[in-house]
Formats: sequence, C-alpha cells, structure tokens
Amino acid sequence: MRFYFAPMEGITLYPLRNIHREIFGEGVDKYFTPFITAAHNHHFKNREKKDVLPERNMSFDCYPDQVVVQIMAGCSDDFLWAAKEIKKLGYNEVNLNLGCPAPTVVNRRKGAGLLQDPEYLDGMLKEIFTALKDDAKTFEEAKDRVYPELSLKTRLGFSDDAEADRLMEIYAAYPVKELTIHARVREDYYAGAPRLDAYKRAVKIYRESGGNADICYNGNIDSKEALCMLMEELDMKTDPKDVLLESQSENEDKGKRGTSSIMIGRGLLSNPALVRELRGGKGLLASELKTYLNKLYEGYAAYIPEDRNVIFKMLEHWAFLHVHFKDSDKSLKNIRKSRSRDEYHAAVNEMFTHFDH
Ligand SMILES: Cc1cc2nc3c(=O)[nH]c(=O)nc-3n(C[C@H](O)[C@H](O)[C@H](O)COP(=O)(O)O)c2cc1C
Repeated sequence: MRFYFAPMEGITLYPLRNIHREIFGEGVDKYFTPFITAAHNHHFKNREKKDVLPERNMSFDCYPDQVVVQIMAGCSDDFLWAAKEIKKLGYNEVNLNLGCPAPTVVNRRKGAGLLQDPEYLDGMLKEIFTALKDDAKTFEEAKDRVYPELSLKTRLGFSDDAEADRLMEIYAAYPVKELTIHARVREDYYAGAPRLDAYKRAVKIYRESGGNADICYNGNIDSKEALCMLMEELDMKTDPKDVLLESQSENEDKGKRGTSSIMIGRGLLSNPALVRELRGGKGLLASELKTYLNKLYEGYAAYIPEDRNVIFKMLEHWAFLHVHFKDSDKSLKNIRKSRSRDEYHAAVNEMFTHFDH
C-alpha cells in the first residue's frame, strides 16, 4: 500500500511539503502540490510557478518521482502547454484536477465542472493522450520526452454517483498512470460519509472496461480505524505489518487489480504522523509537533512579510491540530488573537502545556 499527501489549495505549498517530508515523511510515497492553473494565455501565475520550481524541493532526494504537480485545465491545449512546462522543471508526473467543487472553477468547465460533460471530457483526454502517445513514439527514453506521465484525480460524478459508470469507461480507454477517486460527488463538496459502495462499483466498472491504471482511494482516512474499515470493505489485508511490507516490495502485479494507494488530506493536517501510525509506527509526539510548527512558521515567514499574515497561515493548521490539546480553549483563543511573532510563540508554548497523549 502506498500513501500520498493530497493536494490542498493554499496548504500543501512548498513549506509544508518540505517540512512534513523532513519530519514525518518516511512512508509518504508522494506529495501533491495544490493545483496550478493552466491559463488560456499560457502563463502561470507567479506565485504558482514559484511553488513548483525545482529548488523548492529541498527535502526531497528524488523530487521528480516524489512530488506530483497538479494542473487545473479546461481544454487539452492549455493542459498540454502546462504539462510541457512542468516536465521542463524535471517532474515525471502531473495530475489533472477533475474534482474541485468551487463554483468559480466549475462554471468555467474546469475541476469537477468537467464531470458534467463526459463527452467533452472524453474528447479532451483523447487529444491529451494522443499527444502523449506521439511523444512516447518519438522518444523511447522517458527522460527525453516532452510530456510527463499523467494521473487523474476525479470524483464519482457531479450530482449523482451513477455518473461514475460512464466516467470510468472513459478513463479506462486511456493509459492513465494512476486514477485517484475521491469517493464523493461534486455536490457533496467535502461533507458526509464517503460513498464506498459507489467507489467499489466504479473500480469494478473501470477494470471491466479494460482500465489498467493503479487505483488510489481518497476520502476521510484520518485514523488507523478508518483505514482498517476501508480495507475490510475493500477485502484487503488489514495487518499494518502487511501494509508496510506491501509498500516495500514491488509485488508482481503491483496491486493493479484492487486499490493500491491511499491519498490523505485532512487526516494528515490533523495528525502529521498519521502515515507513520498507519504503517505500524509510533503516534504523534509533542516535541516533533512543536518542531514541525516552528519550522512551518519560519517557512511561511520567509516569504510572507507581515507577522499577522504568517499567523493567519498558521491558523489554517491550528484549525486541524487543536484536537491534540485538552481543555485548551483559552490558549487557542490566544493563538488566534496573537498579532506578533512573540505573542504567537508565547500562546503556542502555553497551548503545549495542554498536549494530550
Ligand atoms: C482546503 C482544501 C483545499 C483543497 N485543494 C485541493 C486541490 O488543490 N486539488 C485537489 O485535487 N483537491 C483539493 N482538495 C481536496 C483534497 O485533495 C481531498 O480530495 C479531500 O480533502 C478529501 O480527502 P480527505 O478526506 O483525506 O481530506 C482540497 C481540500 C481542502 C479541504
């Protein structure tokens, strides 16, 4: 089983990717960047481009295979331009966003908006994969190619999970590197229980339609219990030791028939040590969480000028992390109220007296 850190807009930026990798990264097989927009004018926004520059991958010994850049695009032409640019930066894989539920994205027929028009999506993928195929024909060695490999991150549909039937047939027709399925439809946004039955049905239809990509599950894996329940549902091995071993050995069929990886978003924000725990290792320690938070603060402060704005960024993490602290409402309030670096760190020190493990 492989584990991935999910793409999260404004969150899985380079400071988090590097610092997480450095402290808790053992066992996390890939980190996905937040989406980078493939605009019609074929220019990346400055801040988006900066996030994926090769020198930003300080903690990765082989970033081309460990960091995946996610692209948001509404047509093949824009996507292919962006993918080519990302390959020039050395990355071996890009991921197409087919799940973002934001109305501004959906209304431009991007993200989950593409799921509303499967025939358009099919045409777009056809154009993309034709270019990738021609590239592979021209250059035998992957390193010489113009385009990186392509993985997809989809939902089960826009408003109804029965839409997955057609979507899976479409995906199965192309040599996708990996298919991540967030087990929800767009109208669920991020709420409610993942649709496990619909997920299982989608995987089955994908395979029956000849789909050969690795399959990655995504949705609400935030504890060992959640993982065990998922594995039971999917008839997979439930011993954490097996989870560890499977990842280490390249077993023959690479788990191609079932689910071979799990993508985790909010679970890793709440518990940065979650993957270690899922692989049978120790739980989150106060000391490492403190180091992680201090490094994150410094990482953000290096490019965000005002203390208050750095603190706002840290509050996005505290929104998930406060669960590790008991009777800490007052300290959390002080973190939220802090206006300067010193006030912030004083409030965090106080908060850590409530660490509950
Ligand atoms: C704040 C936030 C930002 C997100 N940004 C992205 C994104 O840029 N690209 C994407 O594919 N998914 C994005 N997602 C969705 C996550 O990658 C993931 O699919 C979702 O959170 C469900 O997984 P989880 O239950 O493990 O968090 C975002 C989710 C959240 C909560």
